[in-house]
Amino acid sequence: MSMQDKLDLLNKLRADVEAGGGQKRIDKQHEGGKKTARERINELFDPGSFKEIDVFANTEIEYKKVKNPGEGVVGGYGTIGGRRVYIFAQDFTVVGGSLGRVHAAKICKVLDMAMTVGAPVIGICDSGGARIQEGVDALDGYGQIFFRNTVASGVIPQISVIMGPCAGGAVYSPALTDFIMMVSGTSQMFITGPLVIKATTGEDVSQEALGGASTHNQVSGVAHFLANSEEECLAQIKSLISYLPLNNLEDPPVFPATEPALDKETLLSVIPDDANKGYDVRNLINAVVDAGSLLEVHQFYAINGVVGFARINGQSVGIIANQPRVLAGCLDINVSDKIARQIRFCDCFNIPIITFMDVPGFLPGVQQEYGGIIRHGAKMLYAYSEATVPKITIITRKAYGGAYLAMCAASLRADSTFAWPSAEIAVMGPEGAVNVINRKEIAAAENPVETRKQLVQDYRDRFANPYIASARGFIQDVIDPRETRANIIEALHNLSTKRESRPRKKHGNIPM
Ligand code: HXC
Repeated sequence: MSMQDKLDLLNKLRADVEAGGGQKRIDKQHEGGKKTARERINELFDPGSFKEIDVFANTEIEYKKVKNPGEGVVGGYGTIGGRRVYIFAQDFTVVGGSLGRVHAAKICKVLDMAMTVGAPVIGICDSGGARIQEGVDALDGYGQIFFRNTVASGVIPQISVIMGPCAGGAVYSPALTDFIMMVSGTSQMFITGPLVIKATTGEDVSQEALGGASTHNQVSGVAHFLANSEEECLAQIKSLISYLPLNNLEDPPVFPATEPALDKETLLSVIPDDANKGYDVRNLINAVVDAGSLLEVHQFYAINGVVGFARINGQSVGIIANQPRVLAGCLDINVSDKIARQIRFCDCFNIPIITFMDVPGFLPGVQQEYGGIIRHGAKMLYAYSEATVPKITIITRKAYGGAYLAMCAASLRADSTFAWPSAEIAVMGPEGAVNVINRKEIAAAENPVETRKQLVQDYRDRFANPYIASARGFIQDVIDPRETRANIIEALHNLSTKRESRPRKKHGNIPM
């Protein structure tokens, strides 16, 4: 064979791999509103930057013929916004993207290389699960991936993108990563599908209702981002990556600063005069952070809290806020999980945490107690105490009891705590406090309603302000709300060289 013949063979073999499962299957993929693995990669990465690895990896070597092109997964690395990122994307057109020994080995190599280089990994899942013909080899392949996901946790950011079926034990690789993104109508995740559920429990449920994007973004909290199309999802990935460092030894990238979208004067009226009225905390955040920079995580889950990423003066920060317009911003089981997870992610990856506190307390109720609010709420206390990144807390209104501590009070080692003049920092709200300490007095009063009202007002005047906490040294300063951004920028600058060490240990035992 001449060199030209050899080159022709190489080009044919490469073209066979790149053709995936063939045009008919590609057409079927498109008809279902889905892109192919390679189309997804091309849209995500900077043009021309993707470098494929293990192009010819295969279970069976058949000279001059590619069987199962690419083994149902495309892996490699490239750049997104000029920064190195690794990826594997399952190719549903090849044996349903099912995972066999070589398929798993390709994914493991991507994870290993990303760890060696210190770069984020994106996994695009579109697969019928374990390749049935490969039996326990397929199961072992999943185990190898789970192990690597766990070891990589906290070292490199890991993002899972569900763009097709993801069933059975296969869902656990995404679940071990930092973020799960789903696309409405075309992605599903479940441990057992509708048919098995029907057979075992008799419940009737569609695939979408059981494990679609809305279910996992709104109900279960398994997914963190919801997109209405693959294009939107790919744009979300690029946006998310822009807030993150490449690994735990780096700082996040800094962008040119922009002024907030909302004028700082709006901060004087964002909180209603009536202390029992709610408001949208996003209006407050958007008057503090760089315009358009707020990227919510878990936007549709536990919406009594807002968490996400933003930029302040061009610098990435993690945002954690109570949302007073839902459940008055109370902390419940789900929002505790949501907040604790965001704290831990930020702490892993050197992203300072800005907490906006307006919280009347933990949500009272039998279901909350039965559901274990104690151990879920404890996650917030644990995560904030454990976190050593810069922690800046702004108390805008209510800061009562255990919830005051759980939203990163000074005692949990917040580095800078600022209070607005509207802050009410006390062991509990006026109504609850009066019910406990003045119960007998109210019962004996000639006019209990009037007496109670008077006592509530007395309590409010005495305790519901920021000055007692300030006098004790729990508040760095009481600030004009319009100066919130300036104070945060100054504190971030001051804390940029923060070093805080903790006792050496294998790992802590966060309440679960
Ligand atoms: C081998 C598979 C496969 C699998 C799909 N295919 N899943 N081959 N192993 N797991 C093949 C099909 O035979 C078909 O091949 C091609 O991929 C496309 O599949 P279709 O069924 O035609 O596609 P569609 O109608 O869109 O249905 C998609 C699907 C269905 C819902 C995912 O394929 C399906 O139910 N697959 C099996 C799912 C499953 O039970 N997997 C095992 C889960 S257990 P041809 O040649 O006909 O085109 C598991 C354990 C993991 O994953 C444990 C980890 C710890």
